Amino acid sequence: MTNETTETITHSAEETIAFGRRLAAELSPPLIVLLRGDLGAGKTTLVKGIAEGFEAARAEDVTSPTFTLIHEYRGPRATLYHIDLYRIDTQRDLETLGLDDLLAPNCILLIEWGEKFPRLERDRNVEITLAQIGKERAGETERRIQVTTR
Ligand SMILES: Nc1ncnc2c1ncn2[C@@H]1O[C@H](COP(=O)(O)OP(=O)(O)O)[C@@H](O)[C@H]1O
Ligand SMILES: [Mg+2]
Repeated sequence: MTNETTETITHSAEETIAFGRRLAAELSPPLIVLLRGDLGAGKTTLVKGIAEGFEAARAEDVTSPTFTLIHEYRGPRATLYHIDLYRIDTQRDLETLGLDDLLAPNCILLIEWGEKFPRLERDRNVEITLAQIGKERAGETERRIQVTTR
């Protein structure tokens, strides 16, 4: 099994959204994408760009699914499910979400905090890790974005 990692640095939320738009061109369903990084690292911001790249939603309409757990965005090329497992702690609670049913041939799962669950860690196709680097200036900071596929 080969893992290939590419690394990008962005300097603002807008740059991260633009990177997400470009990244969307390289993603084809079906896929499980794990989005890793601390709170505020930019996971949801990146999904805004990915959703725009798929013509599935406008960036401003993509919001965090922290409380709703799953948001669905339908585009011509794929249906995106943006999932936040921050509040899901047990395997049983995970099962009630029915993620298996969402992984249809035309679907892409974009999962925040999925690494909490070994099965998702094992089954993921793409892992994207975001990290804040450098000091924050006027709310904008550099982010390192690593994309690993297998
Ligand atoms: N380079 C950057 N990339 C992404 N977000 C950034 C960047 N610089 C500042 N931000 C800000 O950081 C916050 C990231 O929040 P969010 O995407 O919700 O993080 P997460 O989903 O990882 O918790 C947003 O307020 C965004 O405007
Ligand atoms: Mg988030």
